[in-house]
Amino acid sequence: MADTARTLGPVETAGALAALTGGARVEHLERLAAAHRNGCVMRLPTGRVLVTCDPSTVKHVLVDRADRYIKGMGQLHAREIIGDGLLTAEGESWKAQRSAARPYLRARAVQERLPHVVEAAHEAADRLGAADWRRVDLTVDLASYTLTCLARTFGFGVPDGRRVHEAFDVIQDEAIFRAVTQGAVPTWLRPRRAAAVAAALDVLRAEASAALAGTGRTDAWSGMEGMMSLFLAGYETTASTLGWAAGFVAHDDALQDELAAEGARISDAGVATLGDLASLTVANAVFQDTLRLRPPVWLISRRAVAADVVAGVSLRPGDEVLLLPGAATPDRSFEPRRAAAGHGPSNPFAFGAGPRSCPGVSLAAMEGAVWLAVVASRVRLRPGSPTTPRPRARMSQAPAGGAVVEARSRTTSDQVRPTARSSA
Ligand code: HEM
Repeated sequence: MADTARTLGPVETAGALAALTGGARVEHLERLAAAHRNGCVMRLPTGRVLVTCDPSTVKHVLVDRADRYIKGMGQLHAREIIGDGLLTAEGESWKAQRSAARPYLRARAVQERLPHVVEAAHEAADRLGAADWRRVDLTVDLASYTLTCLARTFGFGVPDGRRVHEAFDVIQDEAIFRAVTQGAVPTWLRPRRAAAVAAALDVLRAEASAALAGTGRTDAWSGMEGMMSLFLAGYETTASTLGWAAGFVAHDDALQDELAAEGARISDAGVATLGDLASLTVANAVFQDTLRLRPPVWLISRRAVAADVVAGVSLRPGDEVLLLPGAATPDRSFEPRRAAAGHGPSNPFAFGAGPRSCPGVSLAAMEGAVWLAVVASRVRLRPGSPTTPRPRARMSQAPAGGAVVEARSRTTSDQVRPTARSSA
C-alpha cells in the first residue's frame, strides 16, 4: 500500500474543482495525480475525494477491496440516464449480464471474427482513400467501424454509426454535466436539454431494436439498457483510441510504411489468419502506446459503500476515489518502436482491473491493430493540424475538434510490399 496521500489545501481544492468543470479536466487531474505519487485528497462538503495513479492504491480499490466500492462519478450519472446495462449496473443485474457477455468476448471467440474485422477495416480504407488529400474527421467513420466489429462479435445487426454517435454525444454531455454539478441543476430547469436527452434515448432504443430484430437473442445483455451499455462501452473507447493513433501516425511516414507492410499481409479478408493477427507487431505497439498516452477511459471512478483505509486515508461510505490511468507513466512522448521492441513504459490499467475490468480487451486489441495496419496499407495520412489536439474529456477522452487528418489512397508507386511474418 502507498504511503499516506496528501490532503490538499482549500486553494488547491478550489483549483481542482474549477478544472473539473472546464475543458482542461484531463490535463489538470493527471497533473495532480502525477505530482502526488501517493495520491491527494480533496475535502468537500459532500465527502472526501482521493485522486491517484499509484498502482498499489489502484489494485487495492479495483481488485483487493472491490466489494467495498461501486462505480462512481460519471458512471453513476450515466446510469441515471442509460439505466442498468453491463457498464453501469451493480449487483445481480451486473453479474447476469457480465456472465452472459463472456462467451462472446473470450479471446478465441473474438479471433474467429477476424475476417469480419478485416473486411470492415477495408471498407473503412475505401471510404478514407476517397478523400484525395481533403481534411477528414474520422470520428463518425470510426464509430461505424467499431460498431460493425461489435455487431459481428455479438451476432446482431450493424447499427448506424452516425446516429449512435450523435445520440451518445448528447448523453455524454449530460452525464459529465451531472457529474461536475453533482446533480445540483435538475433537468426540469433545463427543458431543452431534457428534450435532447429524451430524443437521444429514443434513437438508441430504435437502433438497439433494429440491431436485435430477427436475431432471437434473449441473453441478459440484450435488453434495451444492456444494448445501450454495450454500444457505448464497445464503440467509443476503441474509436477514440484510433482517432488519437491516426493523428500520431499521420506525422510519421516511415511508421506508416512499417504499418503498411504488416497490413499488406491481410489484404484479403478471406485469407486473414490468426497468424496474421499475431504478427501485427508494429500495429499492436502503436495501439498500446496510444493507450499509454491517451487512455480513452481517462478516469476510473469508485464510490465507497463501506468504510476503508486506502493510501493512509480513512474513507467513509459516499467518499470517492478517482483513478487516472493516463498519469501512470511520466514519459509523454509517442514511442511505438520502443513498445514494439518490448521495452519502454506501458499503461498498466488502461483496461481497468479486478472484477469490473474491461471484458472487451481482446476485441479492442484486434480491431485496433487491424484498422491501423489495413488502413496504412491502402491510405497515406497527413496531419490535419500541425499540433496534437487537446483532449475533450467526458466519459472517455477524444481529440477536441475531432480526429482530423488528411488522407489519400496510396498510388502504385507508394505501395508497400508485405514484410515476412516475425512471430506467426
Ligand atoms: C481501447 C479500447 C477500450 C478501452 C481502453 C477500454 C477500457 C475499459 C475500462 C478502463 C473499463 C473499466 C471501467 C471501470 O472499472 O469503471 C472498461 C469496462 C468495460 N468495457 Fe471496455 N475498453 C475498451 C474497449 C471495449 C470494447 C471493444 C468492449 C466491447 C464490448 C468493451 C466493453 C466494456 C464493458 C461492457 C465494460 C464494463 C464492464 C463491467 O463493468 O463489468 N470495452 N473498459
